[in-house]
Parts: sequence; structure tokens; C-alpha cells
Amino acid sequence: MGQGADFRRSAAGKISASYCLCSPTEKGNFLVVELCQSQVRTLLVTLYGDGNMSPSMVYKIFNLPEGITQGKGEALFDFIAQCLSHFLAETIRSDPSKAEERLPVGFVFPFTCRQTQLDKAELLSWSKGFNCNDVLGKDVVELLQSAINKQEVGLCHMDVVALMNDTVGTMMTCSTEARPCEVAMIVGETWAYLVETADETSGRMCVNTEWGCFGDDGTLNDIITPYDECVDVESSNPGEKRFEKMVGTLYLGEIVRHALIGLTAEKAIFTGTDIGVLREKGVFTMHNEEGTTEVKRILEVLGLQPSERDCGRVQQICRAVVGRAATLHATGLAAILSYMCQTRDMETLMVNVGMDGELYKGYRRLLSPECMATLLPSRDGSGRGAAMVTAVALRLAALRREVNEVLAPLRLSRADLEKVQALMREEMERGLGKETNATASVRMLPTYVSHTPDGTERGDFLALDLGGTNFRVLVVRVTEEGITMASEIYVIPVSIMQGTGEALFDHIIDCIIDFQTKQNLVTDMLPLGFTFSFPCQQMGLDKALLLTWTKGFSASGCVGQDVVQLLRDAARRMQVVALVNDTVGTMMACGYDDPKCEIGLIVGTGTNACYMEEMRNMGTVEGDQGRMCINMEWGAFGDNGCLDHLFTHFDQVVDQSTINPGKQRFEKLISGMYLGEIVRQILMAMTEKHLLFQGKLSSKLQTKNIFQTKFLSTIELSNGLALRQIQAILNELEIEASFEDSVLLREVCQTVSLRAAQLCAAGLAAVVEKMRENQGLEQLSVTVGVDGTLYKLHPCFSTNLQNTLKDLAPNCNVSFMPSEDGSGKGAALVAAVASRAANAME
Ligand code: BG6
Ligand code: GLC
Repeated sequence: MGQGADFRRSAAGKISASYCLCSPTEKGNFLVVELCQSQVRTLLVTLYGDGNMSPSMVYKIFNLPEGITQGKGEALFDFIAQCLSHFLAETIRSDPSKAEERLPVGFVFPFTCRQTQLDKAELLSWSKGFNCNDVLGKDVVELLQSAINKQEVGLCHMDVVALMNDTVGTMMTCSTEARPCEVAMIVGETWAYLVETADETSGRMCVNTEWGCFGDDGTLNDIITPYDECVDVESSNPGEKRFEKMVGTLYLGEIVRHALIGLTAEKAIFTGTDIGVLREKGVFTMHNEEGTTEVKRILEVLGLQPSERDCGRVQQICRAVVGRAATLHATGLAAILSYMCQTRDMETLMVNVGMDGELYKGYRRLLSPECMATLLPSRDGSGRGAAMVTAVALRLAALRREVNEVLAPLRLSRADLEKVQALMREEMERGLGKETNATASVRMLPTYVSHTPDGTERGDFLALDLGGTNFRVLVVRVTEEGITMASEIYVIPVSIMQGTGEALFDHIIDCIIDFQTKQNLVTDMLPLGFTFSFPCQQMGLDKALLLTWTKGFSASGCVGQDVVQLLRDAARRMQVVALVNDTVGTMMACGYDDPKCEIGLIVGTGTNACYMEEMRNMGTVEGDQGRMCINMEWGAFGDNGCLDHLFTHFDQVVDQSTINPGKQRFEKLISGMYLGEIVRQILMAMTEKHLLFQGKLSSKLQTKNIFQTKFLSTIELSNGLALRQIQAILNELEIEASFEDSVLLREVCQTVSLRAAQLCAAGLAAVVEKMRENQGLEQLSVTVGVDGTLYKLHPCFSTNLQNTLKDLAPNCNVSFMPSEDGSGKGAALVAAVASRAANAME
């Protein structure tokens, strides 16, 4: 089975170059063009798709014209493109069956590049005598493609689909059925790159170590000889690629030349001979194992008159220089193999090392004892492997197109978000308007909270917090010194959430009594503040008609009723003084610490926001003076159809499967109760299209709500080693996933959570812009008190939200203050104001 490199871009934007099994079914014609030191090699490889490891190959080599390696980049790339089109024209002439619509091209480019995709590579530095400076920093794939586009090929079109280092191609070529090749070295010509696969847990990443640069920071100074220094000084890139200059054959001859100059000065060699010729750069090139007769001939050709002893010494010096190069290579390889062995937690590492070039004999004895490396000569250079990489790239490009097609409707442009912001603003106005309120999807409900805390609130209060992940009962003591609280979490079983209203409120009372008993509060009749996180039409602080249930609640007999009264009916002794929405409780709790906090935001099981609005703008409440907090109930934004253009097929399916289809449409795009389910729908669709899990749908994955939103947090946090955690989640869902599946799964989660954060930001942008306009300010400074598990626990939600908000509302300085102790504290603060007012009335 062959292997290929699978470089997939993670949504985080970083390249992950993974090393995957190249399916033996890769088939088709692939062009490979390789830029070598003095040649351009072109190759046409036909893979048969039947697992056959001997594809057919035709090649042609072109010599690079003098000076082209140091001139303009355009000339170099034009030449490479010409080589390709000549070669192609000839090949097609002899075998017209090769004429195809589009031929994928793999570009072997053995220079240091920063690769961000398989077909995107920015040249960082030239080496090996190349110096077309205007190419530095540019994408060489793009340069080659535009050069190709200039050629009039006529017969077929060539697409550059993959760029790779020569080591990558060599590694692929040297894979065997029994053991994959995992390390490749190019040691024969002028460079010394190495490819290894990174640790397994993060999948398999093909890393080009560019070890030629080893020592550029001075680490090798102890072993650098004066001869190496001379070679470096005379090179086109002094101070750089110090390791390469000790081991690459381009430099070995030069090291020997300087050693000879040094020894002649010390009269140890060539005594009485004019050695002027040795001062000429490049007169020596290295060949392997030359006998003394050959050495004599070479020296004489140079015009030297060597004695027998001179020839022997020259030969010894050559051997010493080559031997040192081999030892250094082996040492580097040993370091890498030991590293692989350690990171894989193996006692013995068995690995194939693909070798290209001439200088690789005699390594084994120098290798780390725990590593059994088989050195495999690359039979046909990097060409065949490069074709395989190209084939894989092509397959992945097709896969990518399909993945993009699935995810495209979930990816929102700036214009989409601006539209959402404008629509939210419109709906807000409609919600505030006396005539329009009834048909607005954003209800803009009055809360009868007119001030944020001012620090004068005092007293001991009971508080309830119902409607988030947890139901909590609290006791809150507000004193001059600050606020202290104690609380207990109680469970509300689904049977009670969805049973009768009576049972729900009886259960709530039971929990309160249990809490009072535990806290020794049975005899105290503390005033109670109630955080009730559902939409209510409030008539006052202690009168609130439930408009509708949300977030999976459906207790009967409650809608249209005064919730405060329902609680009082359940226990007559309860002194309920205020009911607040969780957004309001959160704003008040944060407002106690930051007076600029005039917005409350929840992104948890559900999503919603409240903010301080001017009374003069509120057509639904009497009076024009002062301000009042508005509970927007933005979760229902879009329930009148204004967001229909945004809903994807996945959103529709999720909506239809809830107990309130057609309702809370904005919430269903954003909040924790739904994101996991959206992801699950996408995963199922992708699996059906064979883009994931080899097309196999586990029955668990087909179970509603099995994919929890907290998985998104774990998955999006995962990189490198933590990909193991993705595997753990998938194992639990009885899914066998490859590394590629995990990466794609992460991309799906990122797409869904990013959309949620962006939509939330668009809503918030409408709010802050309205507040800025209300106050007639050029620039608004405001704090948002925020709570909810999604906001707090997801690794990127808050950053994505804040960045998008900055972009959409640049004239507002918005700070986010996560609520520390929940909204119960805020409900108690509202209760404090309410009971003070009630006491004053008495
Ligand atoms: C809590 C608040 O901290 O967050 C609740 O006290 C609120 O009032 C909740 O409803 C929202 O988050 P979640 O994730 O629990 O729905
Ligand atoms: C739902 C409720 C709303 C609440 C929000 C956050 O949207 O309708 O009242 O604020 O969830 O919990």
C-alpha cells in the first residue's frame, strides 16, 4: 500500500500537514516537475488504481540555462513552464491517450518554504546557488501556475495542485507494503532535508525539518573548522545553512580545497608547487571513492604537480571530509529516530528511512541502538512519491469542494451580519412601538427595573434562579461591606418540567423548604427575589404573566398566568417581592461592581439580552421620564420569518424536532441547547455523502441530542495531543474515526460555534448602537454583564463574539464582565429596592 501526504487546513488557519495512507485506488495521469540544482526534471506518472506499486513513468530532463538561477523569478518560472509544455507536447504526440482535459501537476521544490496549504507555499529562502531575489516571500505555486497559463499548450490544461519538498516525495517512494517509510533524507547533492512524521497522537504530520539550518544559531561552533569558516564566508549566504555547508556535496569539495590551501601554507603538501589554481572557487567537486591514480589525474588537470605522497594525503583529506559528513548525517538521523521512539512510547522503533543521493553508506552502526532503521535507496528519486502526493492532493481537493458545499450556508459574510444587525434594529423598534409590539418577533418586554444598583441596597433575601442549566435556591445578605451568599442546586426532572404547573411549583416550594431547613431559615420570613428565565409580560416588579415556555419547559396551566401568584398559591407564606429575567439578574449582579454595566446577556441553554432603554422610546409603558430595563427576548427574533434566508436545512431539521417548532428561531442558531444537535445533523449528512467516517453511520450518532454542546468545547480546544479527546468522544458514539475525520469534525464544530458567536454579536451590535444614538454620543462606553455555560466554557465563543462586535459597532467600546455568582444575586438586589419601596409605602 502506498502512502501520501494529506495536508489539511485546520479552521484555526494553521497548516496541519498530515501524513495519511494513500489509498491504492489513486489513479490517473499526474505530471511532476522537479526543480533541481542545474536541471528541471519532468515526469508523467500513470497510477492504475489497482494497488499496483509500479506505475508507468515517462520522463525528460532539461538543463537550466546559464544565469537563470540568479536572475528574475519570472524567467525561471517561465522556463519551468516551457519544460512542462515541451514534455507534455512530446508525450502526447507519442501517446495521444494521455491528452486529457486537465492534468494535475505536482511541483517538487526543494527550498525552504512556509507552506499553508498543499498548493500554497511562500518561499522563505533560496539555497544551493539559487538567488532570484524577487521570488522571496511569494507563493511559488501561484508563480508556476501563472507561468503555465502563459504557455500555449493547446492540448490540455495543467493545474498545479501540490507543492512538496523533495524529501516528501522520497519518503512516499520508499514506502513498502510491510512498513511505511517515515523518514527521508536527501544527502547526496547539496542539501540535507529530512522529513519525519510527528507524534502519532496528533495524527501524522509530515514535518520538513530543514535541518540544513541547524547550527545557524552558533550551536555547532565547537565543531566548525577554519576551513568551514572559509567556505561559509565565500558562499552566497554567509552565516546561514551551517549544517548543510558541512554535509552537502556542493560544499565538500570546497572544504577540501581550503584544507589543501591551509596545509600547503604549512608546507605539509604540494611543497615547491604553485597552487594558485586552488584559490579559484569551485575547482573541486566531490566524487565518491576515487583511487590515487584518479586523484593524480584530477590534480594534474588542474595544473598541479603532485607527488605520490601528495596524492595519498589529498585522498585522506577527502575521506576525512566525507566521513565527517556521513557521521554528522547519522548523528542527526539518530536524534530524530530516538525522538520518534520516545514520543511514541516504544521500546524499539522499526522504521524505513528513504534515502536519496550518494552519501548514505555506513549509517546503521551510528544509529541509536533502540531504533531499527532500514535504509532504503530511493529507486527513482522523488518522482513517483511526488505523483502519489499529487494524486492524494487531487482527491483531497475534490473532498474539500464537497465539504465546502455542505458548510457554505453556515458561513456568514460581513454583509449577512450587517443585515442581521439591521433587522434586529428594526424588530427592536417594532417591539417598542405601541401599535407594532404585538406582531414584533422581539418583544422588548418592560421589566419595571429603572435603575442599576447604586450600592445603597441592604437586607437579607431568599432568591430563586429557575430556567438555566441549574435550579438554585439562595440566601443573599447585602450589607455595607458587600454581598455574601449561600446556595444549593436542585434538580428539576424532565417529567416535572413538562408535567403540570402545579407539580412544578410544588416542587419548587419543596426545594425552598429543604434549603431553609438546611440553612436554619425556617422561622425567618425573608423577602424573595425570583429569577425566572422565561418571557413574561410584567405589570410590575411582582406581577408577571408567562407569555410562553422556552428551552424545553412545557408545564401545563402556566402560560397566561401570573408566575408570582402561582408561587404564592403554592406556599402562602412566601413573600415574593420581585421577579426578574436572568438577563436582568445578571445585569444587576454585574452592575453592583461596575456602574457602567447597562446590558445583560445570556448565552447558555438559551440566549437573550436586556438593556437600559429611555422611557420616551417605549410606547408600551406609560411615562416619558427616566429609563427602564427592557427584556428583549431576542431568542424569538426571526419567528415572524425575517431570518428565513439564514436558516439552513440543518437548522430546519433541528427546529422541527423541538417541542416548539417555528419558535425561538434566533435562539436555536446560537444557544447551548441546540448547537450540538446542529453539529449532529451536519455529521450525519457528511457521513451519508461519504465525507466522514468512511460513510458508516453508527446507530448512536442517529440518536437525537446525543451530541452534546459541551463536546464542541472539548473538540475545539483540541489540537496536537488533545486530538485524543476527540477520539474518545467519537468512541463513545461508537464511531471509528481517522485522524482526518477528527480534523473535519473540529471544522464542523468551529463553523457552527463561529456562526453562533457572530449572530450574537450582530444582535448586540444593534443594541449598543441604539444606546449610543439614544444618548447622542459619538462614542459609547458600556459594559455587558454576561452569563451562560456556552459563553463561559467554550474556548473561542467569547473571542469570536467580541471581535465581530468590534467590527460591526466600531463606535462602541464594549467591555464584557462575566457574572461570577449567577443572577440570583441580581434578583436579591432588585428585591432590596422593591422591599425598601414597599416599606416606605407602609
Ligand atoms: C446562571 C444564572 O449562572 O446562568 C442563570 O444564574 C442563567 O440565571 C444561567 O439562566 C444561564 O446559563 P445556562 O448555561 O445555565 O443556561
Ligand atoms: C430563553 C428565555 C429567556 C431567557 C433565555 C436565557 O430565551 O425565553 O427569558 O432569558 O432563554 O436563559
